[in-house]
Amino acid sequence: MQEMKYTEEIFKKYGRIYDEGKVIFREGEPGNEMFIIIEGKVKITKNAGNLEKTLMILGNGDFFGEMALVDDKPRSASAIALTTCKLIALDKNTFKSVILNNPSFAYKVILKMSERLREADKQIEELLKYDKRTRIIKSIAEAFEQKEYSKLSDLVKDVSDLVGVSESEVLSVIRELVNSSVIGLKAGKITINKEELKRIYKFLSFSKPHYEAD
Ligand code: CMP
Repeated sequence: MQEMKYTEEIFKKYGRIYDEGKVIFREGEPGNEMFIIIEGKVKITKNAGNLEKTLMILGNGDFFGEMALVDDKPRSASAIALTTCKLIALDKNTFKSVILNNPSFAYKVILKMSERLREADKQIEELLKYDKRTRIIKSIAEAFEQKEYSKLSDLVKDVSDLVGVSESEVLSVIRELVNSSVIGLKAGKITINKEELKRIYKFLSFSKPHYEAD
């Protein structure tokens, strides 16, 4: 309760509301604020050639936009509100003073940055180890672990963003999975043989990687 009141007071001073789909900032822009998510979901994306790769989806209690404040460089990625978002925006001086005066906040920032670096290292490892087709199949399996898809277009979009490949590349792998009856497809609606997909996923996770240039 005490904490809630505290949050409400802070929100009055530093709060912002972003509607669903709004760009909070774009990669390459100068950055003067970092954000803490009070409520909602934010997608962090990076341009890779003509594709947009989702780096991470952040939720309640997460923060973003701290890097440009720490190293005075342009935004390393874009931030987009996936739902209506209630955020706290801290300018550089406030951020610095909170870090210097609140060791538990500073520690949380270090912890999160180290988690993100670990996740980025994992993604680099995947990129080095697996060929494109394997990454797409793994990502389809992972996407189905996280949510039930019924519309083909939603699955194609999410997997293409997550893997950083075009939608037509994802579609051609889905066609293969349809031909081998792992995925059923009727009028744009998907059904999935979860057991079979899990089996393939397990096989790909432990199989010897193809060290093949994409
Ligand atoms: P900044 O560079 O200011 O703006 C983009 C923000 O996205 C960045 O700060 C981080 O907060 C966040 N960000 C950058 N790279 C990643 C990543 N790999 N995973 C999660 N968040 C990231």
